[in-house]
Amino acid sequence: MSSPRSPPEGGTVLQVGATGHLGRLILSELLARGTRVRALIRPGSDAAGLPTGLEIVRGDLLDPDSLQKAVDGATTIVTSAIGYSQRRDGDSLRTDREGNRNLVDAARRANVSRFVLLSILACDQAPDVPHFWAKKETEDYLAQLGVPFVSLRPGAFLYAPPGGYGQMIRQGLERGQVLGMTPEGVRITYIAPNEVARAIALAVDDPRALGRKVDLGSDRPLSGPEYASLIGQLLGRPVGLAPMSGGRSAPTDDIQAMFRFFQTGKYVADTRQQAALFGPVPKVEDAAREMLRGLGLLPAAR
Ligand SMILES: NC(=O)c1ccc[n+]([C@@H]2O[C@H](COP(=O)([O-])OP(=O)(O)OC[C@H]3O[C@@H](n4cnc5c(N)ncnc54)[C@H](OP(=O)(O)O)[C@@H]3O)[C@@H](O)[C@H]2O)c1
Repeated sequence: MSSPRSPPEGGTVLQVGATGHLGRLILSELLARGTRVRALIRPGSDAAGLPTGLEIVRGDLLDPDSLQKAVDGATTIVTSAIGYSQRRDGDSLRTDREGNRNLVDAARRANVSRFVLLSILACDQAPDVPHFWAKKETEDYLAQLGVPFVSLRPGAFLYAPPGGYGQMIRQGLERGQVLGMTPEGVRITYIAPNEVARAIALAVDDPRALGRKVDLGSDRPLSGPEYASLIGQLLGRPVGLAPMSGGRSAPTDDIQAMFRFFQTGKYVADTRQQAALFGPVPKVEDAAREMLRGLGLLPAAR
């Protein structure tokens, strides 16, 4: 359970991306801490189903005027918004590049005291992965403009969200397979989205977090075969590896570049800062259990 902390000097947190899968978890964590939240929601996007007790402003990362209004009076900005998940026709990496720059410009003009960016693990080592590099460019732009920021860089989420990706995981597990992503001996970091949301909410007002880029992960990285074996142990039945091309839709060039980057062994979190700031680093077993519970394949936690 989340431990309550005081909101940042009674200020307002502008959250961008609150309707997303992770965005909703972040919103719940912020509200549970008594934080005053203003959510920036795109015109036409459905805000129904969001918890009560927050202010909603309409705006778009690609519309700078709307951002200026949204940021006005906010002390802190938290963003997990992305265009590369293509929730709408026309969504693209332009959101992650130009949209994030617009938000940083607005933050600078409004003189916010903190900008919390949900980044990606090892983004600064992956110039060939467009959605990773867009996060690195946003971090650089924050530094260039002198906006006080915290960048949290999680590894791969262990989850099965609604939609195509979650569907692929479900169907794979029905066949007794998971997508391993790396061969034996090459490991990557996994993390539960709940843990990411918890860290973001803590980063909003922890003075020690300011100015840091913090890797987020579980207690140890896993190779593909180790991941399959872990899921098998938790389910009590054998689980093998699906071929990388096993999904129904072909991965985009961006996602294929990410898979290639995973093979370098550089997608591994150094969790020392995470432990110092946010407490004990969770076990990867717990993240996997949470995913399987979400899929209804393990009973809910008591
Ligand atoms: N999956 C992983 O393994 C992994 C690993 C490391 C880091 N991450 C990071 O984790 C985050 C995942 O977030 P998520 O699960 O919430 O993503 P998501 O479900 O794809 O949601 C994206 C959010 O961005 C909003 N958005 C898109 N374009 C926008 C625009 N032009 N202006 C304003 N808002 C816009 C969407 O709003 P609408 O409702 O209007 O569409 C939605 O709220 C991302 O930052 C990702 O880079 C993920």
